Amino acid sequence: MTRVVQIAASILNSDLGALRESVQAAEKAGVDRIHLDIMDGHFVPNLTFGIATVEALRGATSLPFDAHLMVSNPSRWAPRYAAAGCQTIAIHIEVPERHQGTLDAIRTSGAKAGLAADPGTPASALAAFKEHLDFALVMTVKSGFGGQPYLPEAAARIGAIRSALGEAPLIHVDGGIRTNTAADAVAKGADVLVAGTALFGAAEMRAAVEGLRPKR
Ligand code: DX5
Ligand code: ZN
Repeated sequence: MTRVVQIAASILNSDLGALRESVQAAEKAGVDRIHLDIMDGHFVPNLTFGIATVEALRGATSLPFDAHLMVSNPSRWAPRYAAAGCQTIAIHIEVPERHQGTLDAIRTSGAKAGLAADPGTPASALAAFKEHLDFALVMTVKSGFGGQPYLPEAAARIGAIRSALGEAPLIHVDGGIRTNTAADAVAKGADVLVAGTALFGAAEMRAAVEGLRPKR
């Protein structure tokens, strides 16, 4: 049986002056989820949008919101993104905080808890949190910017992450996902493909979404 793979649209590389329209265009194009790249200019050298924008976008679609927190103090912010209407929240394992409490707080707030891992972070680092997370967000680019090339060596960790976490947690793969890289990520175990440039840079977004899905 072919595993169901979901497509999440990252709006980071959409028209940031028209985010409501970007979200609605992605929904119309058939994506399954909206991926929100929250950057604080400290954990990554880029600054995007925060709670107020997420709250403003919540009413634009009924699709699930996935918050990807690239922030230096996720313990402070993660539960607030659940309250703002996100269904999943990923915090970066590289942040020097005690993550178990934050992951548990995300779950207590009613959202799914995830750990994001940049390409240089070994799969084994996630194993310690196995009982406290619902998904892993495997970065196939260095977090901070859209439009970067897919790093196959980063994708090579997906199998080891699956082994470290067992079968239950989902695996989201984020960065450089395009028609010529999506199949590699799925073959290695991706359950959710996050794509930004490939969708918002496409002439026809619906075809671009379908082009990422595994061929039946
Ligand atoms: C980068 C973000 C990714 C990125 C994906 O830090 O986490 O979600 O926006 O964009 P593309 O698909 O352009 O690589
Ligand atoms: Zn992301």
